[in-house]
Amino acid sequence: MLQGSSLVPSDGGQVLFTTAGMHPLTRYLEGFSHPRGRRLTGVQRCLRTTDLDEVGDNCHLTVFQMLGSWSLGDYQGPQSLRWGYQLTVDGFGIGRDRLHATVFGGDEQVGPDIQSLQTWTELGVPVELTTGDNWWSNSPTGPCGPDSEIFAWTGDGAPQGTPGTDERWMELWNHVTMRYRRHADGSLEPLPQPSVDTGMGLERLLMIVQGKPSLFDSDVFQPWMSTLPGLWQPDQRSLRLLADHLRASIVIIGDGVRPSNAGRGYVLRRLLRRALTVLWRGDSTRTLDDLPASLLEHTLAQFGQEQGSGPVSDMLRTEEQRFAGLLTRGRKVLTQFSPGRPLTEDDLRYLHQTHGLPPELVTELLA
Ligand code: SER
Repeated sequence: MLQGSSLVPSDGGQVLFTTAGMHPLTRYLEGFSHPRGRRLTGVQRCLRTTDLDEVGDNCHLTVFQMLGSWSLGDYQGPQSLRWGYQLTVDGFGIGRDRLHATVFGGDEQVGPDIQSLQTWTELGVPVELTTGDNWWSNSPTGPCGPDSEIFAWTGDGAPQGTPGTDERWMELWNHVTMRYRRHADGSLEPLPQPSVDTGMGLERLLMIVQGKPSLFDSDVFQPWMSTLPGLWQPDQRSLRLLADHLRASIVIIGDGVRPSNAGRGYVLRRLLRRALTVLWRGDSTRTLDDLPASLLEHTLAQFGQEQGSGPVSDMLRTEEQRFAGLLTRGRKVLTQFSPGRPLTEDDLRYLHQTHGLPPELVTELLA
């Protein structure tokens, strides 16, 4: 069992943040031998900004815990699927009639994943074949391969349709067979030894096992969902966005990132500004200072971070004040700068470069 590492990749590599449990293991999936052996498991905090617009629905988060298992040139994909199925049904008690699988159906470079298809058929689990959705890579180049995903039914009543036709099928566990290395020209080279990389969102698993309608109703979110309504009375969608973005910001700060205008710091800044924009809608006197230290501590502890809540809360306060100052200044500038027509790219560049108002802030202020 591997201890999860920071959201900030130690290799300074191709991604800003750790987006998958396999990320710290990339070189081992490419063939280097791992000091802990060929069969590994772990829990890794991950951040995905690709899902940002979906945050607030039932099953997407910015920061989440990924449960992972790996075979570094040891057991093969079909074995991983069989064990995955067994753990899902017998271990977690998720009814077999609530499961659906997807399998790589082949493209112009790689043929269909017949072995996975055969495995699911033998296990009696319905399968859907797809192309793009069943190919996994962490970055444009590097290890990649076909994947097979286990979906769980989250709707009321009997399952309907397939993962591709009914979004109440939620992806629970992805099993990737890392068989290739992609080069910059798009070509695929077979890896010397195929590996298996699986990942399952802990919060999604809890949602299913605890029979909850959304991630936000599972017990990991309970402290957030019970505290925020008493502080700010947000509507349901704002409550989810605040809980997600503030929780993510705390974890990012806990991993040593500071708000800034570029790279990781900018992702943090955007998350906090989105949260503050929602928080101040209707009442600009609300403040992140209202967040109890115990909530910050609970969140840091949940992600195994040692940072105390004091410095995190100081940073939230500083960033809030900075944003409030920028908004006041921005409103003033925009009252004076009104060309009487929709703003052009040049106007936005001028406002950004001369007055320090980012385009997304101008758009928000003019909305
Ligand atoms: N790397 C795959 C994923 O993130 C499986 O762990 O889904």
